[in-house]
Amino acid sequence: MVSYKELGLVNTREMFAKAIEGGYAIPAFNFNNMEQLQAIIKAASEEKSPVILQVSKGARQYANATLLRYMAQGAVEYAKELGWENPQIVLHLDHGDSFEICKSCIDSGFSSVMIDGSHLPYEENVALTKQVVDYAHQHDVTVEGELGVLAGVEDEVSSDHHTYTDPEEVIDFATRTGCDSLAISIGTSHGAYKFTPEQCTRNEEGKLVPPPLAFDVLDAVMDKLPGFPIVLHGSSSVPQDEVDTINMFGGKLPDAIGIPEEQLRKAAASAVCKINIDSDSRLAMTAAVRRVFAEKPAEFDPRKYLGPARDNMEKLYKHKIVNVLGSAGKA
Ligand code: G3H
Ligand code: 13P
Ligand code: ZN
Repeated sequence: MVSYKELGLVNTREMFAKAIEGGYAIPAFNFNNMEQLQAIIKAASEEKSPVILQVSKGARQYANATLLRYMAQGAVEYAKELGWENPQIVLHLDHGDSFEICKSCIDSGFSSVMIDGSHLPYEENVALTKQVVDYAHQHDVTVEGELGVLAGVEDEVSSDHHTYTDPEEVIDFATRTGCDSLAISIGTSHGAYKFTPEQCTRNEEGKLVPPPLAFDVLDAVMDKLPGFPIVLHGSSSVPQDEVDTINMFGGKLPDAIGIPEEQLRKAAASAVCKINIDSDSRLAMTAAVRRVFAEKPAEFDPRKYLGPARDNMEKLYKHKIVNVLGSAGKA
């Protein structure tokens, strides 16, 4: 049993309380490799932003769970080396789908876990979430639950439709499970295709304009659970300059579209205190790599294309922290 406290990590409790009070959100960035982690830590350290490092089940399979955990441990030391005296870093399991995976993360140094029972019948979601909370709280680890189903693919849980969170359920769910935060569905979804062209309108330049998020659902949830930490998944904005770069250098991402940043800024000012971003980092990385491959076809030193990819991700993370989530200077 390794406690996250020995590793210099923190749980989300105080972080979320401050974020709600201060009208900003904590960035939750997924990582699968060293370059992503370096870029996240550099951005958070230089902007003095609290940060959540997210590890998905897929990331554990891709990179090896033990290795990722040691990398997160190393990230705390790296942040200190960069001059961040008291790093506010959470190591979080993203979309945990069983008690066992949550327990395994808690036992190996994670400070926060998500148990995603959103695809289960309501009573089963309550029971599974409560089981995780009961174990996690014995170790002062915080737990994110989820109510409502996001469109698209939630890791291996496939859903081609979405169901907004029912505000009538949230008090019962939060009370009976004891979860520390709640992910809700208000129209965001995972990946780089959050809306079909049919769901959007087009502006004068022919670019897709997505429909707005269901802020009425968010307001109703906040009304039922005043001050309770709310989480938004699927919150990449799918920056069109990165998509254009990818397409210009041989990629094929037609009509990729995300959540407009002004809507995320509005959400961050409310009880939404954790905003999940993964796809934007993937796009920033891919755009930079494609550019190097196209412009310097003789290059074969990975540092020469992963280096620019890392720089581009760092720029993206800083932009999110400073201009979208408002978490700069809060740690
Ligand atoms: O919510 C999903 C995250 O973007 C993680 O995706 O399962 O492909 O690692 P992944
Ligand atoms: P995006 O695909 O919009 O980046 O969402 C990531 C996410 O929700 C991770 O849990
Ligand atoms: Zn997610």
